[in-house]
Amino acid sequence: MRPPFPRAQPPVGHLGRWGREPLQLLEEGAALGPVFGLRLWRNAIVGYSPDWNRFVLGNLDLFRSRGSMSGLSPHLAAGLVQTEAPEHRQRRAELNPAFARQPIEALAPRIGEVVRRGLPVGDFDAVSWSSGIVREILCATFFSGAFPQSMLADFLRPLDAPLPVPFLRRPLLFRRMNRALERALPEAPDDCLGVAFRDLPGGVDEIRVALSAGYDTTAHTLAWLLHHVASDPELFTHDRAAVVNEVLRLYPAGWLGSRRAAEDTSFDDIDIPRGTLVLYSPYLTHRDPALWWEPTAFRPERFADPIPAWGFVPFAAGERTCLGSSFARLVLRTVLDAFADGRLSAVGGDPRPKAGITLAPSGPLNLRRAE
Ligand code: HEM
Repeated sequence: MRPPFPRAQPPVGHLGRWGREPLQLLEEGAALGPVFGLRLWRNAIVGYSPDWNRFVLGNLDLFRSRGSMSGLSPHLAAGLVQTEAPEHRQRRAELNPAFARQPIEALAPRIGEVVRRGLPVGDFDAVSWSSGIVREILCATFFSGAFPQSMLADFLRPLDAPLPVPFLRRPLLFRRMNRALERALPEAPDDCLGVAFRDLPGGVDEIRVALSAGYDTTAHTLAWLLHHVASDPELFTHDRAAVVNEVLRLYPAGWLGSRRAAEDTSFDDIDIPRGTLVLYSPYLTHRDPALWWEPTAFRPERFADPIPAWGFVPFAAGERTCLGSSFARLVLRTVLDAFADGRLSAVGGDPRPKAGITLAPSGPLNLRRAE
């Protein structure tokens, strides 16, 4: 069988470019074929076809999370994200009901209220506005507001900084956050998401990870959404879900997912030795011309056609699919509604995606909401 790593490799591997320009490196790899090797701190194999996504995301026993890239970020290195099968299934069964579509939709009035209260007037940067409003929404929905906003902001702030800042360990900050959560959780009112974590063993770690996983992902997606509708107000007349999907397609915050092969395995004729980092890339899948016409163009109307199975994976898929996908979608739709009053316009900024822990806009996104 064919090994995944072609002979002609840069002598020092790909680690340097991985640090500087991972998206370009991925795009060059993708041009070689739907599965390609990278030499990072350990051998990695990347794929982006629907078959590959199904192969990687459909087998939690073979492809493990521990020892993969998510463990590099202290904010994500706990709770569900690091729980392996079979315990993972049990933990999801405990948390899924609170995050299912119907109970999440019940939070719409509360989210709408936070957004209306926080609507900007005049010039603003969509990236920093979105981060602030998502923090307020998390506080209002997870704790009915009964959690110190400044603590939440301090805790999440490292996620807003460029790499390697989000990788640094911060034991004091985490201890402070854990103590604040231990105080808040027993008091969590019955009508908020915190209740789902209140009586869960390890609930403090679990809610801390959910707040982290839900923060910059949702904020960055929201910033791009506002940038696009501000640049083309015609988009307000489109189906809202299609506009949101198109943002999730072009700018999947989880641009790269990683696992570690627990055993030797193979895909088509390619050997994947045990211990290999196994990567799937929503970013590459969503820009694959074999799946999407004019893949780099913003065209929500494409979602009137059937979506390719395992070809649209902004929230991953399978058993490890994002816990917060209904929540994130509700936030995005609610904010979109609140800005649909014809006052929004784009001023400038740099929307090109930049890859950190999550995908983020390269620059500020300067918008204006008329008085
Ligand atoms: C637009 C916003 C979001 C995007 C694009 C996104 C994307 C993703 C992706 C791709 C994964 C799978 C990662 C992997 O295993 O490879 C994931 C997992 C997860 N997400 Fe999200 N997410 C978003 C918002 C949220 C929110 C709002 C929450 C919490 C309320 C959340 C909580 C989680 C959790 C806990 C996991 C781990 C699930 C598991 O391993 O079982 N996410 N997300």
